[in-house]
Amino acid sequence: MYDLIVHNARVYPDFQAGKPAPVASIAITDGQVSELGVGADAPAHKHLDANGAMILPGFVDCHTHLCYAGNRMDEHAARLAGTSYAEIAARGGGIRATVRAVDGANEQELVEQSLPRLQALMREGATTVEIKSGYGLSPANELKQLRAIRRLGETGGVRITATFLALHALPEGESAGKYVRQVIEETLPAVAEESLAECVDVFCEHMAFSVADMLAVFERARELGLACRAHTDQLSNLGGTRAAAESGVRSCDHLEYTRAEDIAAMVANGTVAVLLPGAYYCLRETQTPPVSALREAGVPMALATDLNPGTSPVASPLAILHLASTLFGLHADEAVAGLTCHAAKALGRDNIGTLNPGAKADFTIWDAAGPEFFTYQLGGIRPRHVYYEGILNES
Ligand code: NIG
Ligand code: FE
Repeated sequence: MYDLIVHNARVYPDFQAGKPAPVASIAITDGQVSELGVGADAPAHKHLDANGAMILPGFVDCHTHLCYAGNRMDEHAARLAGTSYAEIAARGGGIRATVRAVDGANEQELVEQSLPRLQALMREGATTVEIKSGYGLSPANELKQLRAIRRLGETGGVRITATFLALHALPEGESAGKYVRQVIEETLPAVAEESLAECVDVFCEHMAFSVADMLAVFERARELGLACRAHTDQLSNLGGTRAAAESGVRSCDHLEYTRAEDIAAMVANGTVAVLLPGAYYCLRETQTPPVSALREAGVPMALATDLNPGTSPVASPLAILHLASTLFGLHADEAVAGLTCHAAKALGRDNIGTLNPGAKADFTIWDAAGPEFFTYQLGGIRPRHVYYEGILNES
């Protein structure tokens, strides 16, 4: 006896190898997919007639910085007037501006300001969301941010996975050596002790941290049982992608300046490429990530909103599908794979992002004719229903 059968549907279970052939029904038991293609008359506590609607795995937003206070609208205006992201950061703005706002907010305020952003992602069909810290910088404020993320994880109807963004920006007046030592000796062990994150991330960039700093943090993170990911090649190529891939990270994210030798290292190490077209778009970058080369090499390409107050105030997975197609040239099925199975891989999970039997029953029901609709129409699309672990999200 199944808990639920949704029939008369077009269920696309898994975009791993392109757009799959749709099946007509999905059966759910105990919050998991138990079978695909069962007859409409199979025994179940509940039957739902989808009236021919499309069913997709719930979206997995595998890279966000949505837990923050304040906003940076002033910087957006300054960038439009010609000042660059790096210049704004050099003047003490950028990430440090949000660090000051987070310093002035308590845990409760952080939760209250961040929840509407999380709910915006959920309304468009996100059922798993990764959230990074990285706007605390001091041990106390990083822990405060991670505790706020843990509380966002109690929202219900969505799975939250927390990442400690260990190296994001250097605190005002601090030396890199001293700061990296503090992260390794103090903050990382405290994060692990309280089980506040499952993964560690580093911003490897000329305006942020070096390859050596990144590798030192990864070494300690792994000793403490945390997985690793990296922001690499967003604004320049420091060799971060290659070094991170060789060290065994789950993913390298951004990748605008990634080259052939970096892609070879990703292939050799099974690294996921996380593309972030929201940041590319908002920064009005001109160098696109090497999508054709990644595609030819068979590197899984994930997508994410990168939702953050500076470079990507984009609280819309659906906008990301569109931008990935129009700006980066992803096909519709690649874009949906990017927000489902490949994003799950970036999070080290194989039971989300697909609707194969045994997967979590996180799925969305759409009136759209096919996945191609998402890369065609921008705006005005909402799922008819979102199910999280087999339960309907009411919103
Ligand atoms: O992914 N690149 C670094 N981190 C964020 C931006 C953070 C910020 O500007 O607040 C990103 O783009
Ligand atoms: Fe980011």
